[in-house]
Amino acid sequence: MKTTKVTIHTLRQMKERGEKIAMLTAYDATFARLLDEAGADVLLVGDSLGMVVQGHDTTLPVTLDEIAYHCRAVGRGARRAHVVGDMPFMSYQASHEQGVSNAGKLMKDGACHAVKLEGGAVHAELVQKLVNAGIPVMGHIGLTPQSYHQLGGFKVQGRDVGGRERLLSDARTLEEAGVYSIVLEAIPADIARDITAAVAVPTIGIGAGTGCDGQVLVSYDMLGLDETFKPRFVRRYETMGQRIKDAVQHYVADVRAGAFPSDAESFSIAENKATPTAMDNPYSSAGKK
Ligand code: KIV
Repeated sequence: MKTTKVTIHTLRQMKERGEKIAMLTAYDATFARLLDEAGADVLLVGDSLGMVVQGHDTTLPVTLDEIAYHCRAVGRGARRAHVVGDMPFMSYQASHEQGVSNAGKLMKDGACHAVKLEGGAVHAELVQKLVNAGIPVMGHIGLTPQSYHQLGGFKVQGRDVGGRERLLSDARTLEEAGVYSIVLEAIPADIARDITAAVAVPTIGIGAGTGCDGQVLVSYDMLGLDETFKPRFVRRYETMGQRIKDAVQHYVADVRAGAFPSDAESFSIAENKATPTAMDNPYSSAGKK
């Protein structure tokens, strides 16, 4: 059956119809396939990969080539979902020329469907240039992790005097510049609701309450891969970290006890002769159960 792909137009229609958008981060083909098959509308190859995949404390060290590499993998796993590549720190901040050229490189090398970049009105001109070049852009305002040092850490944004107006104005300016969607990260829920009502493009919240047009979470966080990390805005739908450790402990015990592999999980000369096709390929799932 032919799969109808999610596009920037699908997302706009979803907002118009009042249908919520479910977005998650993905970094490899296997996770992309699972998240896509489970119904995620948008897969973001976020620079959060610097933290959850590479083990850094911030997203700052991630490079454009790394994002492109992970985008290619995610693209191979996704069938229906819209795939967005995150523009990493200093891949677009120095000049518009640099931003356009790097976004184009990410679309070509990463084969993603759109790019995301952090920041408000300050990037409006760049957004216009990208859209004119045929590159769909997702905006990202509120807590922008690439400005970690400028912000003085990971902090809820928009609570200060003028914060609400600044965020509203950033969202409107980005919309005018041509973004097709805006991520609202770590801002008070009532401000996110007002922004969502003020713009025609879908807003995707993370730590921004229920009034957004959609939600995004880092997949590793919602699956509970890191048992030590549980910020307030994350809902854990699984305890995969613990479950993986349990499974591995079981495996280690089996190996040590000589209980793995069993005869059924091994190959024999006689069996190979009897059923050559199933057993010729050791990776076939058609082998003996
Ligand atoms: O890098 C990322 O994963 C993100 C999301 C948290 C929105 O930017």
